[in-house]
Amino acid sequence: MERKEQLYEGKAKKVFATDNPDYCIVSYKDDATAFNGKKKGTIVGKGVVNNRMSNYMFKMLEENGINTHFVEEINERDAIVKKVDIVPLEVIVRNRAAGSFSKKYGVPEGSDLASPILEFDYKCDPLDDPLVNNYHILALGLATQEEIDKISEMTLKINQLMIEFFKQCNVELVDFKLEFGRFHGEIVLADEISPDTCRFWDLDTHEKLDKDRFRRDMGGVEEAYAEMMKRIGLAE
Ligand code: TMP
Ligand code: ASP
Repeated sequence: MERKEQLYEGKAKKVFATDNPDYCIVSYKDDATAFNGKKKGTIVGKGVVNNRMSNYMFKMLEENGINTHFVEEINERDAIVKKVDIVPLEVIVRNRAAGSFSKKYGVPEGSDLASPILEFDYKCDPLDDPLVNNYHILALGLATQEEIDKISEMTLKINQLMIEFFKQCNVELVDFKLEFGRFHGEIVLADEISPDTCRFWDLDTHEKLDKDRFRRDMGGVEEAYAEMMKRIGLAE
């Protein structure tokens, strides 16, 4: 399947049309941003890692009964995906305190949580993705109650599957962000699952193996992405 015209360019990916109106091609870039684009940089090889890792995760989830947008990997940076309408929500799961949660609620990073947190942010760059609850989502018409219920149920199942999967790689899944789309009336998992969108800590040392190394100028960014590829068995 060939790339046709570019439909969209985001911070980390480009999306191209194909000759099939139901499919598009996503192309993962090495561009990295943080703090809603205020910090910019490049993580060499990130596009390859994020494409291959996302595709691998989508396949694993499909095998476990989760519908995703994934169709086929076509090369190391590009994949064919279903052309969905993205639900304008960033769906975040937190299994341990970190990042903006630690800051906002005054809970030291790394603290245990009594139970996982499911959080929705309204995906809107000019507003810096504000936190929204069920009432906000309905009032703003971002999704229906049926869609919120489906997304919540899928997300909690995905959390269980991903916690188990990464544990086997000696990695703790601290938190992550998902996006969902509508495809012919059905809710499917979309976007990506990668070190850009998840916090991964080594299970024993708690070393950070994700984009926080870029966000916080910690160094060893490319090495962390490469290490995650090894941990999941996609590199030597
Ligand atoms: P946060 O602690 O900064 O709110 O991030 C929570 C999780 O969501 C973390 O795993 C990183 C991911 N995330 C994104 O994928 N995109 C974003 O724009 C932000 C802010 C976070
Ligand atoms: N990707 C996001 C941005 O630049 C933020 C992040 O991942 O921290 O806005």
